This record gives sequence, structure tokens and C-alpha cells, in this order.
Amino acid sequence: MAELQVSTPAKINLHLEVLGLRPDGFHELAMVMQTLDLADNLSLRPTADGAVTLRCDRADLPTDGNNLIVKAAELIKQRVGLPELGVAMELTKRIPIGAGLAGGSSNGAAALVGLNTLWGCGFSSAQLSAMAAELGSDMPFCIDGGTQLCFGRGEVLESAGLAKPPSLGVLLIKHPDSSVSTPWAYKQCREQFGASYLSGEAEFEQRRRALRQAPLLTGLSGEGPLQEIRNDLQKVVEPEVASVREGLSILRRADAALAVSMSGSGPSMFALFADHEAATRAQQQLAAALEAAGFAFWVCRCTGSGATLV
Ligand code: C5P
Repeated sequence: MAELQVSTPAKINLHLEVLGLRPDGFHELAMVMQTLDLADNLSLRPTADGAVTLRCDRADLPTDGNNLIVKAAELIKQRVGLPELGVAMELTKRIPIGAGLAGGSSNGAAALVGLNTLWGCGFSSAQLSAMAAELGSDMPFCIDGGTQLCFGRGEVLESAGLAKPPSLGVLLIKHPDSSVSTPWAYKQCREQFGASYLSGEAEFEQRRRALRQAPLLTGLSGEGPLQEIRNDLQKVVEPEVASVREGLSILRRADAALAVSMSGSGPSMFALFADHEAATRAQQQLAAALEAAGFAFWVCRCTGSGATLV
């Protein structure tokens, strides 16, 4: 097979609830994740020298064995058991790095999906998801994307049952100089709220059931008003990170915003609008304030797919 291109989209969290601590030290979560039309591109060219290589147009992104793309390639190669398989990969970045948008996880998921085809491995989507879960909590979601409920560490997925992606417009912002460490955010959360964490499977399941029936999902399908968005990590990140406080305060000034939230562990933030046009008008309304404060910003649509061959 000749060269392949894979589109690797960003996600936002439309709900992020920390339920409790798990025996493995991770947090038990109840989330709704949503892919956007802001995407990186991963190109894959097969080689016969057994080498896995990655180049990227962003010099500040590691392209060695720490990159989830390289980890994914090595894992799938090991599982297929053919050491002679090689690939030369090139990543074109559009998703901001270290932003809470799952850019790295999505890139890793795209490598699994793309290499499964390029190398003719024949892994089922369940097998790809299991490999993705070994590499990162958000990675299985990034394979299929769309609107999904994510439980466990984030890797246990349920479709939100929407007939189509929400028609919402998204104004997404991130300060280029700001980043948040995900382990730090979870540690802060444990220190500040650990005493009130839920403690067992029965209580976790009660919250999952509540999320499945939540008005949030009716709001996303356009059948009801959109509720406020909950992100428990925002409670610990917003007081500590100045760019998050400033960004949220600018987004909250948008005339027609339905909801404003941080994504994941931040520091990216977004406002939701009834449609793409309303998000574009808000971008125009807020552009001067966002530029003055040094924010990068994007107007996005919600999509129904994850890592996709193009
Ligand atoms: O799985 P991933 O590599 O994305 O997780 C990064 C870090 O975030 C973990 O090492 C852990 O500190 C924290 N985390 C957590 N609970 C989760 C997901 C992530 O505590 N469900």
C-alpha cells in the first residue's frame, strides 16, 4: 500500500465528573466527550527496513519514543509479530499542544487506525480499543470520536445515543504560553476534594445512571435547553492558572453563549453557541479582547467521527 493520510481530531469535555479513586490509583470518571472539526493530519508511508520514524512540523513536540504515535506504532508492530514492518510518519499539527484537547491521544489513536490498514494487520475495532487503552485513558474515545459517555479511567465508552452530532458552534481558546499537567490537576483534585469522593461501585453506578438520563444529553440533541457544563478539574485549575481565569472571564462576556467551560485538565476553554454562525459572531465580538490578552482562538463544529482515513 502507498502513503495513507489520517485525520486526527481534537476533543472537548462536555461533562467531566470525578467520582472517586480506583484501586489502580487513577480516578474513576463520568464524562461526555465530543470531537471537533479541528484536526491534525498524520501521514504514513510504509518502509521495509523495520524502522518506525516520526517527523513533525512543530519543533517543540518530542518525536521520540515518548510520543504516543511512536508508542502506538511499536505496540501494534509487536502485537502483529512482524519486526520487518517499518513506517515513516509525518504529523502536521493544528491542535494546540498540552491543552486538554486530547491532541496527543488522538494522534496515537490515528496511528493505530492508520497502521492497521497500512500494514494489513486485520485487528478488530475492539482489539484496537484495547491497545489504545493500554497507552492512555482518552485514547479509546479518540478512535471512534463523536459524542460518547466515557466511564472508568475514561476508556469505558457508551454512545450518547444522539442521531447526529450536536449542531452547536464552539468558540475554542487557548493561551499559547500556558499549559497544565494532567497528573498535577488530578493530584490537586484529590487533595482538595478527596474527602468527599464517592467510595464504591454502587455509588459510581448511580452517578453513571444519572449522566445517562441527564438533561445535558437532551440539550445536546437539540430537544431541550443546554444545561451548564460541569468540569470538576476546572474547580482546581481556575484558581491556580491566571490564563484560565482570564479566558473564562472573556468567554463569559459573549452575548449568546449557552455554556462556558474548561476542557479536560485545561488550559483550553470553550463557549458553546446555538450554531456555527452564532459562534462566529461571538468570535467577532470578543476578538479584540482575546487578541489583547494573547489568546489563540478557533471557531469549530462538533463532528461524529474520530481518527479517520482520508
Ligand atoms: O491515562 P493518561 O496517561 O492520560 O493519564 C495521565 C495522568 O492523569 C495519570 O498518570 C494520572 O495521574 C491522571 N489520571 C487520573 N485518572 C484518570 C485519568 C488520568 O488520575 N482517570
